Amino acid sequence: MNAYYIGVDLGTSSVKLLLTDDAGRMIGEATESYPLSFPQPGWSEQNPADWWAAVQRGLQRLLAQIDPACVRGVGVGGQMHGLVMLDEADRVLRPAILWNDTRTGRETDFLNEEIGKETLQARTGNIAFAGFTAPKVLWVRAHEPALFAQCRKICLPKDYINYLLTGVFATDVSDASGTLYFDVENRRWSPEMLDLLGIDETMLPAVFESGAPIGRTALFGMDAVVCAGAGDNAAAAIGTATVRDGQCNISLGTSGTVFLPTASYVRTANPALHSFCHANGKWHLMGCILSAASCNQWLVETVLQSKDYAALTPALSPQDAARQLYFLPYLSGERCPHNDADVRGAFVGLTHAHTREALALAVLEGVSFAIRDCVELCPTPIRAATVCGGGTKNPVWMQVLAAVLNARLQVIRNEGPALGGAVLAAQADGRPFAITPAVEAVIEPDPALAAVYEKKYRKFRTLYPALKDFFKEDF
Ligand code: XUL
Repeated sequence: MNAYYIGVDLGTSSVKLLLTDDAGRMIGEATESYPLSFPQPGWSEQNPADWWAAVQRGLQRLLAQIDPACVRGVGVGGQMHGLVMLDEADRVLRPAILWNDTRTGRETDFLNEEIGKETLQARTGNIAFAGFTAPKVLWVRAHEPALFAQCRKICLPKDYINYLLTGVFATDVSDASGTLYFDVENRRWSPEMLDLLGIDETMLPAVFESGAPIGRTALFGMDAVVCAGAGDNAAAAIGTATVRDGQCNISLGTSGTVFLPTASYVRTANPALHSFCHANGKWHLMGCILSAASCNQWLVETVLQSKDYAALTPALSPQDAARQLYFLPYLSGERCPHNDADVRGAFVGLTHAHTREALALAVLEGVSFAIRDCVELCPTPIRAATVCGGGTKNPVWMQVLAAVLNARLQVIRNEGPALGGAVLAAQADGRPFAITPAVEAVIEPDPALAAVYEKKYRKFRTLYPALKDFFKEDF
């Protein structure tokens, strides 16, 4: 009898599902989109019912290709940090507040300044960022107290999907790491943080390692084990085989991340870098920028009303690169390294000569410089990295990124997080398989471009300090 696994990547713009055989070979895939709403500036919300409807549509499409009874395991990776709240009848109490929502500037400052970064880092491994879950809990408590009083369960986006699949309320260590009420070093909830937030551990899901079985699903004729799953970045690292010290995976999705596995827990010298549990029983460091491929999408689709990405980013020359046009990619504020919910995006240096193409290149450069800001925080220099995510579809961007980082890039064009989900599902089923990521292209940094971008990056770094006060409420 054939055996299959399904990996699910619950993303911000869509859910991607991947069907693999028991050696991890791709048999089918499905993508289903859902809306993202920005009800107020800096807010970012989604309706968990939309996720569930999309997951079910995607599963039905995949299962139409095979005998559903042959699916042995399902693994879900998902957007991290989102706050999902359920009442005593398991009804969703409000739209989920997402990882790129920056309404919690005040709560984040309270945590970092009143409780203190040292204390937070000692309890959880991390300091507070507006997108993390703990400041959101404080925000709901302060602004929606009646609703908070009805809350009986708090979970992360992919945990809600796993709950509906299995009836088991569970999370995994990698995703729990992004809540700021999880003790990353000891891989358990932090009692001190729960006290501080006024939540009882009974409201939280049970914690598992990512590849551990949490229950089974019989949905649509499947008879499959469901694993605890992972945060999407840890799942992508599993899907790109980024599991050892010295490796680096960069993901260019709605967010951009720089992911470094570590064999043991690291308390970072610069807490702008996150220190989280990995999905392989170990740990990792991560830098995250809030807007990566989403900046490109904003310029091309929203501003220029086009879908023709390739036409807007033609072949790159050192002269184009030397143009003194800069883009700050802070469309949703910024996480790493600035931890600033108020900052906003900007073009700097516009002239009459600048065309649509010049703006498009400046956006790719600005996002690459922001990724370099994260790379600069890493404890060791990054000379090579794998890259996954939607941004990899643009070959000019890959050239720009390689030159900005002065690093050799291996472009992996599989659905990283969804494949990671399938790998974890096979582990939970007791039939693990190893994957060799399919490298689609290797991009060496062009020395002439790298020299131009080194100078431009130095100038880029001066822009945030020059502009940050402009965006403050009392300016
Ligand atoms: C990571 C982060 C984002 C989301 C995107 O800390 O916030 O990468 O997980 O889905």
